[in-house]
Amino acid sequence: MTDLDDLRQHLLVAVEASAGLDALEAVRVDALGKQGRVTQLLKTLGGMTPEERQAQGPAIHALREAVTGAIASRKAHLEQAALEAQLASERVDMTLPAEVPLAGTVHPVSQVMDELAEIFADLGFAVASGPELETDWHNFGALNIPETHPARAMHDTFYLAGSGGGDPNDRETPRVLRTHTSPVQIRTMLQQKPPIRIIAPGRTYRSDSDATHTPMFHQVEGLVIDKGITLGHLKWTLETFLKAFFERDDIVLRLRPSYFPFTEPSAEVDVGYTLEKGKRVIGGSGGGWMEVLGSGMVHPKVIAACGLDPNEWQGFAFGCGIDRLAMLKYGMDDLRAFFDGDIRWLKHYGFASLDVPTLSGGVGA
Ligand code: PHE
Repeated sequence: MTDLDDLRQHLLVAVEASAGLDALEAVRVDALGKQGRVTQLLKTLGGMTPEERQAQGPAIHALREAVTGAIASRKAHLEQAALEAQLASERVDMTLPAEVPLAGTVHPVSQVMDELAEIFADLGFAVASGPELETDWHNFGALNIPETHPARAMHDTFYLAGSGGGDPNDRETPRVLRTHTSPVQIRTMLQQKPPIRIIAPGRTYRSDSDATHTPMFHQVEGLVIDKGITLGHLKWTLETFLKAFFERDDIVLRLRPSYFPFTEPSAEVDVGYTLEKGKRVIGGSGGGWMEVLGSGMVHPKVIAACGLDPNEWQGFAFGCGIDRLAMLKYGMDDLRAFFDGDIRWLKHYGFASLDVPTLSGGVGA
C-alpha cells in the first residue's frame, strides 16, 4: 500500500508541476497510457484471487480516479492560462490615435457649397437642383427673357450644336448650357406648391475667360415664394446669410437699383469692406463696396409662367457667384486656379475631409 501512496504522491506532484499542455500529456501517458504505471497496476487485478482483488482493487481504482481528476483540472487551468495569454498579446489598444489616411482635401467650392447648405438649412431652406443642359424656355423664356430681348446679350451663351431654331416654348429639348442657376427657380415652382424656400447651388456656363471669369463657374440661386413676402424679407435674409458666411457681425449691405428681366424691382447687392494692410477685408464699409450678388422680387410674369397666380403668391430671388464668395472669404485672387487641379493649390486652400462645416462650430472651421 505504501507503494501505491508513493506512486500517487509522485504522479500528483508531476501533474501540478507540468508547465504546459505538452508536459501534462507526457505525465498522462506515463500514468494512464497503454503502458502507463497506473494502467499496469489495473492489469494486475486480472491475475489476482477474488480476495486479493477485493483488498487491493478499490485502492488502485481510487488512484486512477485521483490521477484522472488531477490531470483534468490541471488541463483546464493550463488552457485558461493559454487563452488569457493569447488575449493579452492580441489586445487592440482602443486608446491609440487612429491613423486616418488624408489622401485628399475638399475643394473650396465644395466647402462653400456645404457652408451655404448649412446656413440656409438653419433658415428653413431646402437644397434644389436642375440640369446643366437646359431648354431655352427654362433658361430664358420662362424668366421673361424672350428671344428678341436685349437682355440675352448679357449672357454669353453656349448653344448646343444643332440647337438653332426650334420652338422657343419647347420644355423638353436642351439647347443651352445653363447661363445661370435661375432656371432652377422655374423647375421648382413647376414641381412643388408654395410656400417655397430653396437654394440651388451648381455649375453654370458662359463664354468668358479672364482672371475673374471662367467658362464654367458656380452660382447659388435662392428662391422664396409665399404670401406677403416683401423686399424687407429679402434684405434680412441676405444680411443674415452674409453675416453667418463671413462670420462677422459688422457686415454692411447696400442695395443698388438694377435690372434683371425676372425680378421687379431688382437690386444689385454690395457688401462693404475695410482695408487692412492694403488688403480688402469684408466688414465695415470704410474701404468701399464690392458687388456680391443680384436679387429682386420675383417678376409677376415669372410666377404666372409657372402656373401660379401672382396676386396670391409673391417672393424674392437672388443669385450669387460661389467662386467669388470663396475668393472673398479665403483670400484667393485668381479664379482660374480653382479649376487647374494643381495639387499644391489644393493642399494649400483645400479643407480637411472630416471637417464638415456646422453653424454652431463656425461654418468655415
Ligand atoms: N441670374 C442672375 C445672374 O446670373 C442673378 C439673379 C438671380 C438676379 C436671381 C436676380 C435674381 O446674373
